[in-house]
Amino acid sequence: MIVTIDGPAGAGKSRAARDLAKKLGFRFLDTGAMYRAITLKAAQLPIDWADTEAMARIAQEMELNLTGDRVFVDGEDVTDAIRTFDITTHTHHAADNPAVRDRLVELQRQIGSHQDLVTEGRDQATVVFPKAECKIYLTASDEVRARRRYDDLRSRGEQVTFEEVLEKQLERDTRDFGREYGGLRKAEDSIEVNTDGMTPEDVVRELEKLVRSCQRQ
Ligand code: C5P
Repeated sequence: MIVTIDGPAGAGKSRAARDLAKKLGFRFLDTGAMYRAITLKAAQLPIDWADTEAMARIAQEMELNLTGDRVFVDGEDVTDAIRTFDITTHTHHAADNPAVRDRLVELQRQIGSHQDLVTEGRDQATVVFPKAECKIYLTASDEVRARRRYDDLRSRGEQVTFEEVLEKQLERDTRDFGREYGGLRKAEDSIEVNTDGMTPEDVVRELEKLVRSCQRQ
């Protein structure tokens, strides 16, 4: 069974998807981490951000492993390094690149081909798994999403202001919704859940109920 969870940044997808997968005994896949990992690799080399071919080559050649909660690039644990404000603001260079997207869509489908999966991202229901048995679209208001991201960054010791986070989030939303190839769209058959005012525990409880109802259909 494939459960897709799509939605904008800060809607609570990662935490909800991870906890839901654990409850269901499914594999969890954070596809945003894959775009982030390619961005980190490009930043480390470094390459010119405008060099789309070099970016595509990195996506083809790098060894990307998502094991449990950890993310490895060419054997190096990059779980924390891919979450910085800097990598977040540069990730669109990977996400806007059609060749990178094709490579990651291929990897995501491979992962979903032989196991039950809860996968979260932007295009999971629309592009990667259009036949998924259960499609969820998670959202929340702009302020609530920015507050969550801000709290998360501050807890990691990053010196950012709430206004900066909100501004970057709006830029990211514009890019995510406007992306021609693989952009964020709610699939017609997705169930929308607004997480404003819900605790992470509320969200996972609600999603589990939805998945159980999908299983009965
Ligand atoms: O979900 P997260 O914030 O980690 O994703 C990082 C970036 O990767 C997003 O802003 C989005 O542009 C991109 N992304 C994407 N397609 C996905 C997952 C993430 O384009 N399936």
